[in-house]
Amino acid sequence: MKILVVGNGGREHAIAWKLAQAENIQKIYVAPGNGGTATDKRLENINITDIQELAKFAADEQIAFTVVGPEAPLASGIVDEFRSKNLLIFGPTKKAAQLESSKAFAKIFMQRHNIPTAYYAIFNNNQDAKDYILEKGAPIVIKDDGLAAGKGVVVAMTITEALDAVDLMLGNDSNKNNSKQIVIEEYLSGEEASFIVMADGKNILPLATSQDHKRLKDGDLGSNTGGMGAYSPAPVVTPKVHARIMREIIEPAVKGMEKDGIPYTGFLYAGVMIDENGNPKTLEFNCRMGDPETQTIMARMKSNLVDVFKMSFEQKLNLVNIEWDRRCALGIVLASHNYPNTPRIGDKINGVNYTSENSEAPVVFHAGTKYNAENKELTTSGGRILCVVALGDGVKQAKKNAYDAVNNISFDGMQFRTDIGYRAIK
Ligand code: AMP
Ligand code: GLY
Repeated sequence: MKILVVGNGGREHAIAWKLAQAENIQKIYVAPGNGGTATDKRLENINITDIQELAKFAADEQIAFTVVGPEAPLASGIVDEFRSKNLLIFGPTKKAAQLESSKAFAKIFMQRHNIPTAYYAIFNNNQDAKDYILEKGAPIVIKDDGLAAGKGVVVAMTITEALDAVDLMLGNDSNKNNSKQIVIEEYLSGEEASFIVMADGKNILPLATSQDHKRLKDGDLGSNTGGMGAYSPAPVVTPKVHARIMREIIEPAVKGMEKDGIPYTGFLYAGVMIDENGNPKTLEFNCRMGDPETQTIMARMKSNLVDVFKMSFEQKLNLVNIEWDRRCALGIVLASHNYPNTPRIGDKINGVNYTSENSEAPVVFHAGTKYNAENKELTTSGGRILCVVALGDGVKQAKKNAYDAVNNISFDGMQFRTDIGYRAIK
């Protein structure tokens, strides 16, 4: 069987790595892939990113099914294109992907279906936005309406920061009505968790819970990033909180999409804030898995992922029970010099030699890496470079195992956090 995975990050490496463990796999193509997917057994990169060309490739190569990693191709309609050619693909349609691609769409949707979230207002006028901020006070949160790779959010602790964010996102002409919109919302405090499920349009299959570390520096300081590390499971999601998230957020979301005539298929990721009383509120929806959350989730998945996807295409996810490793998985992201601003590329990476055959060993998932087959050299080619994932009995042990593995890896300008998992350990 041949499968196609679309994307080039650590998330896609982890998905492809897991798929490749199934029996009867001839080849997992990754488009366009990275240095890790270029070298793993049974994986092969194909240098195609255009949606129509990908559909043609899938048809010509008789790909059994396609899995889409990142949001951009989903928001551009890759699922609609594949389905119009009768090709199996796991992901939401362009319309359904608006849950992530438009924060305004998501907020209005949540309000309509009584899904708990921060109160909010939508603006395209600088002065109106500023008046609202002055009325509400700080802390307050300003969000770009469109896709911004996790970087379009300013959590303003002061009024000045909030007003500056409005100028930054809408421009500082106070009277102009922009074509662009921003969402201003209530600041929520508590502990965040990533709650990811698979949906087949009818049924919902929750995956293992996880928690991400969005800030660049230890102690949750520094710039917001795509994610600097993660672990699974997230202890903050107790069985009771889990049941509430399913009942109050996930089920109304999937049913709500169906009611609105936009049935949801694919991964659905709710970023939730859980307050000290265990009340969950939705921070955001993503129409994909999280990165680096996926790397820790795949490391714990014992079931055959190919079978899970097959069941989803038959709308039988209600019959699937995924078996998870009882241990904790913890992943540390190694990022390049100057990430998340303008990352430097082209640095030689040393010390990455893992074997994906040994399920006990730490696994190094690649993201922004490039493999040169001639000199067998691996170099940096993006912002987040690698994610080193280890399992352990408890977060503390997983953390120790993962950091021990990080010690073997180096490249110029390498940045990483030294406190991944601290909330769960505390
Ligand atoms: P988002 O892209 O909406 O997930 O926002 C990125 C990050 O900003 C989240 O992971 C949170 O850490 C933070 N954030 C977003 N919305 C809020 C909010 N309403 N209150 C507090 N923090 C928030
Ligand atoms: N790690 C956060 C995300 O993928 O959105």
